[in-house]
Amino acid sequence: MKLTASQLEAYERDGFVVLPELFSEEEVEHMKSELRRIQKIDTDHLVREKTGGIAKTIYKVHETESPTASAVFHSAVRSPRLLEPAQQLIDGPELYVYHTKCNLKTAIDGSVWQWHQDFGTWHIDGVKEPQMTTALVMLDEPTEMGGCLYFIPGSHKLGSLDPTFDEATGYRFYVVPKPTMLDILSSHPKAVPIIGRPGTVVFFDANIVHSSGHNLSGDDRWQAYIVYNQVKNKPEQVEQPRPDYVRSTNFVPLEVGSDEILDRVQIG
Ligand code: SIN
Ligand code: MN
Repeated sequence: MKLTASQLEAYERDGFVVLPELFSEEEVEHMKSELRRIQKIDTDHLVREKTGGIAKTIYKVHETESPTASAVFHSAVRSPRLLEPAQQLIDGPELYVYHTKCNLKTAIDGSVWQWHQDFGTWHIDGVKEPQMTTALVMLDEPTEMGGCLYFIPGSHKLGSLDPTFDEATGYRFYVVPKPTMLDILSSHPKAVPIIGRPGTVVFFDANIVHSSGHNLSGDDRWQAYIVYNQVKNKPEQVEQPRPDYVRSTNFVPLEVGSDEILDRVQIG
């Protein structure tokens, strides 16, 4: 599936483009049932909320070699619906998945993500260029009260801002420092709530400034994120690299697969 010229223009201008209901209800339900199964697994590929032990983030659902592996995500990352737009957006046929993460922001308990640029962390991972794109897949219907994501349109054009380590999240997470963030908020268009029907996909730039609040609603806000990088932009060696489930070392270029992502029930 190819993005149109006006979709590419929107991405370039705003730093993101919304593709409503790209995945069907059935496909979304299958992804969710897989995450319900995986969230019970005891593994370091899964980060839990500080309170209650509820799954906050599940990594590496797209690979065959992973405790959190899932066939539907393995197919989805290669599907023309996602891979072809990613190839257009970061201008390269040879892409690999930097990581997949599924954020299960559950009703009442799901917690905040402070303002940040994803490339803040990926640069520290050893990636040189920010030409990476993320496909967000809405698995529920995110709302403002339910802790939807907010993007600051055009903020990707600020380039890479010096990040600061956020102690509060309890795991390695770099955020935009508060004084810089106050400047950005007063000088840019209002942050846009990223809401939509389940199955909606949003591609966004690695440097867009974004955040999301606590889920105060009675509804879960589950979302999957697939990060694509060019093989030629793979990270350089760094001291103490983060684990493979967040900084993949599988640099084999992805081949465009099928949009029939429910065909294979089991990986094998
Ligand atoms: C992120 O920005 O990395 C995650 C934010 C969210 O899922 O709300
Ligand atoms: Mn992020």
